[in-house]
Amino acid sequence: MLFLPLATLLGAVAAARGTAKRDNSSLIVTKVPDYVRPYAIHAYTLDGVRIDSQVYRFPVTGPSPDNAFTLISTAAPASSELGVLPRIHQAHYENFYALRGRFALWASKDNTTASHIFMPGDYGAVPQNTTHSFQILDPFTEMVGVIQPGGFEALFYFLASANYSSETYAPFPQGSFTSPGGDAETIGKLQEFDVWAQLQFSPPMGFDANGTSGDGGAVWHNGINELASDSTTPFFVANGYGRKTLAPASAEKASYAIVEPFITATQSDGIFTEGTITLSRLPSSSQPQTWELPWHTALEVVEGLVGVMVEGYVEELSLSVGDVVFVPGNTTWSLWGKAAFLKVLYVGLGKVTEDSRLREVGREWGSVVWPV
Ligand SMILES: *[C@@H]1O[C@H](CO)[C@@H](O)[C@H](O)[C@H]1NC(C)=O
Ligand SMILES: *[C@@H]1O[C@H](CO)[C@@H](O)[C@H](O)[C@H]1NC(C)=O
Ligand SMILES: *[C@@H]1O[C@H](CO)[C@@H](O)[C@H](O)[C@H]1NC(C)=O
Ligand SMILES: *[C@@H]1O[C@H](CO)[C@@H](O)[C@H](O)[C@H]1NC(C)=O
Ligand SMILES: *[C@@H]1O[C@H](CO)[C@@H](O)[C@H](O)[C@H]1NC(C)=O
Ligand SMILES: *[C@@H]1O[C@H](CO)[C@@H](O)[C@H](O)[C@H]1NC(C)=O
Repeated sequence: MLFLPLATLLGAVAAARGTAKRDNSSLIVTKVPDYVRPYAIHAYTLDGVRIDSQVYRFPVTGPSPDNAFTLISTAAPASSELGVLPRIHQAHYENFYALRGRFALWASKDNTTASHIFMPGDYGAVPQNTTHSFQILDPFTEMVGVIQPGGFEALFYFLASANYSSETYAPFPQGSFTSPGGDAETIGKLQEFDVWAQLQFSPPMGFDANGTSGDGGAVWHNGINELASDSTTPFFVANGYGRKTLAPASAEKASYAIVEPFITATQSDGIFTEGTITLSRLPSSSQPQTWELPWHTALEVVEGLVGVMVEGYVEELSLSVGDVVFVPGNTTWSLWGKAAFLKVLYVGLGKVTEDSRLREVGREWGSVVWPV
């Protein structure tokens, strides 16, 4: 019942703006487009590069978002060594999010070191000039990285041990691979990729029962995590422990959205936003909210199943965990819940983004679930 009215709705919006065109080509691609257009990619269908035991895929990369940011997926088995040697990036702001399994992340700046064991849903901000490193800890760990500005993927192509593709969509290959972190000599020569080795940094390994080392007493899975008050301070947000806003997710207010921001205009100087939106299922009698934002949006499903429609395309997408959709600015699209509980990780460019709009109309909310 939902499909036709929604298609009509998006068609009407497009017609009203004088841009009504119907594209019979699919939104689903298996290669990232080399120009700005709407597209979606199913998890693990994208070819990647292998750096020893880690497979890197780039669902948003290069010209697809006008080089504004890169969305990286790193899938790997546990390792007894660091995943990368300690380094800083002078020009790139790096964001870590745990999709599957656990990893440790170290971030050190201004003589303060914070390190935590990440479980799915946990987030860490590594602004420019922050020394950092990570280690993969579980048999199937997947990190979602957002690096701003774009172009940083050149590093991974340069370091690749091999190109990786799988007819069976295997997230990563079997085999015994060594030192994913690379060697001291190689990392010393990567400045042209904005990698500045910090080999004097010795990551503190003694993690306490709550998954914290270094900065003893840090709040991690045991209290509210506040976002940094500027764009230069590293910080961490455990899954569900950030500040949240509750907003209506459909025109009839029959479904809910809970926004848990990681990066707002304050943490990025207005350049981008990142965080999660949890949605309840859209009742079959309701229309989802449609969006038209001035700048690009990328969403990765991290829990459950979402429906997406994009102006100009007849397809209604069903996206599940690890799937990514990219929508250019000034394009009308809609997003709704197809499962009882679902969550997307969003990246928005600029200050006027899906999350900022939802936060404007919403109210402070202390729970990770919506009202009964
Ligand atoms: C799309 O498909 C419809 C129905 O099959 C057809 O009438 C239309 O010409 C097609 N449009 C394009 C651009 O191929
Ligand atoms: C990072 O440090 C370098 C070298 O000190 C400096 O040139 C650069 O401006 C810094 N980056 C930021 C974003 O502050
Ligand atoms: C860090 O520690 C060094 C050595 O104690 C000190 O010289 C420096 O001023 C400190 N930096 C900051 C930003 O606190
Ligand atoms: C991956 O494929 C590209 C394009 O064919 C090629 O240029 C590159 O050398 C390959 N990388 C490795 C590590 O084999
Ligand atoms: C771990 O968290 C619990 C609360 O969940 C707290 O009581 C305890 O002090 C924390 N332990 C450390 C070492 O911070
Ligand atoms: C979207 O439209 C606004 C207003 O016309 C314009 O300023 C902006 O550059 C457009 N964004 C994109 C991505 O083209």
